Amino acid sequence: MISPFSLPAVLRIRDDEFVLYLSTEQLRTRIMELAARIDRDMQGKEAVFLCILNGAFIFCADLLRCLTIDCEVEFLKLSSYGEENISSGDVRLVKDLCMDVENRHVVIVEDIVDTGYSIDFVKKHLEKKNPASLKIVTLLHKPACTRIAHELDYVGFEIPPRFVVGFGLDYARKARNIPAIYISKSDAITYE
Ligand code: IMP
Ligand code: MG
Repeated sequence: MISPFSLPAVLRIRDDEFVLYLSTEQLRTRIMELAARIDRDMQGKEAVFLCILNGAFIFCADLLRCLTIDCEVEFLKLSSYGEENISSGDVRLVKDLCMDVENRHVVIVEDIVDTGYSIDFVKKHLEKKNPASLKIVTLLHKPACTRIAHELDYVGFEIPPRFVVGFGLDYARKARNIPAIYISKSDAITYE
């Protein structure tokens, strides 16, 4: 992906500092690897990729452009942390998908699995719709933060329990546009 963005070494958002953690090139390489695995595993199948808004929009766009299988894309929006950065476990559906996924092969596309509350909610919600199969692909996973464990079929990177921004992920709505992942320098952004 070509971007005019020149990546700063340090990002400052509010009173927090974030440092470069995963470069555009690392993300690009890993996304191509994930797409190749999905392509191989789903050969001959038609899949619906369900992008979880807002955070997954950039990962989903990049992933889909690396896939060669026959696929469709659909969107579902969950309530976000808002201005906060602590997962409350109180997940709400803001926008449901608009298509029938009964007997379809569905792949949930997440930006990050942190506590697991969101993916738990989406999985249960989707299972009621009787898909032929349900898989999960997430760009990032914070295993140390798990509260509800779910099998994740495809994981881009396992990361430490620190807040990250960029590449679709935000902090107080900022930094989604940055084409790399930055990690919080401090432990000040904590998890309950
Ligand atoms: P979970 O429900 O705690 O697993 O959190 C899932 C959602 O919280 C993700 O889809 C993100 O939107 C958001 N989230 C979790 N950790 C981070 C982070 O480090 N940076 C930005 N957003 C995050
Ligand atoms: Mg998200």
